[in-house]
Amino acid sequence: MAKKATVHFICSECGTNHSKWAGQCECGAWNTIKEFKESASRAGAASAMARGYSGSKESISKLSDIKPEDSPRFTSNNVEFDRVLGGGIVPGSVILLAGTPGAGKSTLTTQVLCEVSDKLNCFLVSAEESANQISRRAIRLKLQTEHLNVAIETDVLAILSMITQIKAKFVVIDSLQAMFHPDVQGAPGGVGQLRECMQVLTQHAKQNDVAMIIICHTTKDGSVAGPRVVEHIGDVMLMIEVIAGSRFREIRAAKNRFGSTSELGLLAMMPDNGYLKSVTNPSAIFLDRSRDPKPGSMVASLWEGSRSLLVEIQALVIDSHQGNPRRLAVGIDQNRLNMLVAVLVRHADLAMYDQELYVNLVGGLRSTDPSTDLPVVLAMVSSFKDRAIPHNWVAFGELGLSGDIRSVPSGLERIKQAAQQGFAHCICPKGNVPKNLSANIKVYPVETLTEAIDRLEEIM
Ligand code: TYD
Ligand code: MG
Repeated sequence: MAKKATVHFICSECGTNHSKWAGQCECGAWNTIKEFKESASRAGAASAMARGYSGSKESISKLSDIKPEDSPRFTSNNVEFDRVLGGGIVPGSVILLAGTPGAGKSTLTTQVLCEVSDKLNCFLVSAEESANQISRRAIRLKLQTEHLNVAIETDVLAILSMITQIKAKFVVIDSLQAMFHPDVQGAPGGVGQLRECMQVLTQHAKQNDVAMIIICHTTKDGSVAGPRVVEHIGDVMLMIEVIAGSRFREIRAAKNRFGSTSELGLLAMMPDNGYLKSVTNPSAIFLDRSRDPKPGSMVASLWEGSRSLLVEIQALVIDSHQGNPRRLAVGIDQNRLNMLVAVLVRHADLAMYDQELYVNLVGGLRSTDPSTDLPVVLAMVSSFKDRAIPHNWVAFGELGLSGDIRSVPSGLERIKQAAQQGFAHCICPKGNVPKNLSANIKVYPVETLTEAIDRLEEIM
């Protein structure tokens, strides 16, 4: 007797699989749980062993006997895009590129395709824009277009056939939510369609060594719109975002099977034609040393992936007339700010509990690097005492709850980068002081918060 198809109830917001239909999902969304039938043959596979099937023993080997092949990567000709990918694109990999509308997904992918299409057979499939729009964009961006294959198509099986016919090796799909699989019921963008389209595209990429960038829409909270399984199937998941109020874009990897997820890629959108250019010296864009030093400002050395980034931290400390003074952190974690204030009050004897506090990482950047603790604290002390710190000072270090300044990774590289950017003085944890430093910068090691504040008192 034929087995019945298994029925799943999947939330189209978060992808949770429920055993029965409900009006509201546990993620809080209403009317998002949709019925999804899995074919009988696939559902039955789990019981294969029980039914007497067994895999071939020869296909199992000892890990030490497997000699890994080098996976040669090819460059996207965009330094920052290569950086977040972990050093270029791996053939046969599936990269999801998600971002809000206008972030630059179509721009970046068109650029990358045009710039590698003279060496590699590239194919742009769009279901979001007309051929006219794509052509206009390429002309505006002044791209080399003669080698790039373009098609406007939504049927995923038709796309696979085109890829095979032209033997494309690098494909961009714009976007997953606009694709549909003719054998699956439901409108494009639905849970079933997204799962199946993602599944067949990935399978084709792996079997034929085709690198694919699949553009995805995001939900309000910034994750890929659709079931979680879409993110699980892809090898790399990149998010591109506009840095608030600027022409810069940041790319980060939320998942990367071929590299680190801690790299930050920075792109600048050219004001004249919208071209996305790699930012090779990011510190230069986040620092403004043209003005007189003002109280409450200190430069921090952040660590992002494999490089340091010098960013100004601004703090404003003012008397509060409320019982519960306001504390606001922009760019750093709010709870971390509360913790730093507690340590300041307890170990530096600074009466900040009745003060309103505002801390901002200038330039719209966000950081979770704990090495911002020391510069944040110094910026707050500078604002509290209303005395400015000279321009050519930089600081980094993590603050412990007992008022100790703890070492952070990559101290030497941070100090060297600060020297390169023209900083003459650096306050840092004692454990981070290099034994031999040839750079032209004076380093002031500190072990406790009080030592750091005493040092500050001497220069303000
Ligand atoms: P796009 O790649 O279309 O964004 P996405 O695919 O992520 O929705 O990029 C749109 C950006 O391009 C938008 O921020 C504005 C910019 N742009 C220009 O700079 N010049 C132009 O002529 C146009 C049409 C857009
Ligand atoms: Mg687009």
